[in-house]
Amino acid sequence: MSMGLWSKRGIGLLAVMLAMLSAAGCGGNQKTLKVGIESNFRPFTYTEAGQNKGFEVELWEAIARKANLKYDLVPLSYGEMNKAVQSGEVDLAIAGMTINKARKDNVAFSDPYFDTGLVIATHKDNKDIQGKDDLADKVVATRTGSTAYLYASGIPGIREVRGYPDISEAYDQLKNKAVDAVIFDERNVHDYIQTNGDGKVKIVGGMLNKESYGVMGQKRSKYIGRINEAIAAVVKDGTYSALYAKWFGAPPKQLPGE
Ligand code: ARG
Repeated sequence: MSMGLWSKRGIGLLAVMLAMLSAAGCGGNQKTLKVGIESNFRPFTYTEAGQNKGFEVELWEAIARKANLKYDLVPLSYGEMNKAVQSGEVDLAIAGMTINKARKDNVAFSDPYFDTGLVIATHKDNKDIQGKDDLADKVVATRTGSTAYLYASGIPGIREVRGYPDISEAYDQLKNKAVDAVIFDERNVHDYIQTNGDGKVKIVGGMLNKESYGVMGQKRSKYIGRINEAIAAVVKDGTYSALYAKWFGAPPKQLPGE
């Protein structure tokens, strides 16, 4: 074998290695991100007939396109979401996660992309509960670990807050009159009433507080900046309003960031 052949092989090998390196994304753009979603948080993110659906699934698709991010969706339970982000099991999560100070100790959030709040739901037959002040000595069901759980626990005189890993269980308890009320995210309660409530559940009073959802990432996540730019871009080009109208029946009264 001549030296000439060896060096040609060497150059060929080097070229292959360089090609592999750039495909692996030394530029940073090429990594396929794992993005956590939830299988039962309608109409934001849910799984139906094996398919991931919802406002957040479609909004994320638009954000990722703008930010030039490749991703795979990873369905998780609500209980797993925080841990999965913190441990790096997923890079990001979009699942109706309320931005708050306590959570910011452990994770990072994007700018808000959805403004909402908590509401009280009762059984249709219930006449005594008209608002928060009527919840003293009552039993309220909600999802364990949610902002609603925290909120309900702080209601003066509340008898018991029952936490369930899946919000459907809380709704079932309400339908069966096993609890007095459910407190949870407004749009999810509204969706439940329209889809599975069987005419047995109603919302009483107005919004209890103000909350905003953000995309969650690891502390100091390098993706948050690009995601914020992409959120602003999909708001600006009308994609946000179109998706909002599709999923919530009417365009938003106020756009995120306004
Ligand atoms: N917004 C509430 C929270 O952050 C409820 C979240 C519900 N999200 C979900 N993926 N199930 O605690």
